[in-house]
Amino acid sequence: MRHLIPVIGLLLAIPSMAQQHDPAMHQQHLAGQSQPGQKASDGRQLVKFPEQMREHTLASMRDHLLALQEIQAALATADFDRAADVAETRLGMTALQAHGAHESSKFMPKGMQDAGSAMHRSASRFSTIAKDAAVTGEIKPAIGALSEVMGACVACHAGYRLH
Ligand code: HEC
Repeated sequence: MRHLIPVIGLLLAIPSMAQQHDPAMHQQHLAGQSQPGQKASDGRQLVKFPEQMREHTLASMRDHLLALQEIQAALATADFDRAADVAETRLGMTALQAHGAHESSKFMPKGMQDAGSAMHRSASRFSTIAKDAAVTGEIKPAIGALSEVMGACVACHAGYRLH
């Protein structure tokens, strides 16, 4: 489990790397002819959400980024319980249940759903490891687990776009 997430990230990133320098797709993109589900010049797949759901999702994305910053700030002051709490409630399995993410998951392709699940699972895992750090004082495993959370952000962003 621990090493699975970077692997998923890599797999998702490969198709986008392959298409990055395809001039034909670049032309198409510039001409503004992209259709729903069509890949952008950078290889990301367009996923159509209802307008309100897209706004809501992007707002929640901005909170994801804020949460990462709060976690790093907490780690910097060795406030491991706070880091664990932010991760679990804003990014982890608890956040998944609270935000009714199952609603938007209906509109997601399978790979995007999997990337979302990977993020929630890795954030909950970080939370557990950060709580351990409160006891052991050993910060490195928590930093490593946090990078796996960020790996899940990166993997989904490499594969999908909403506009
Ligand atoms: C399941 C897929 C997925 C995961 C996981 C994910 N994102 Fe996103 N995120 C997206 C998509 C899709 C967009 C829209 C990109 C686009 O349309 O160009 C986005 C956009 C964003 C934006 C821009 C918001 C705006 O106002 O335009 C931020 C910031 C962001 N994500 C942060 C994060 C962070 C931080 C994480 C991890 C903690 C994360 N995301 C995890 C799919 C995901």
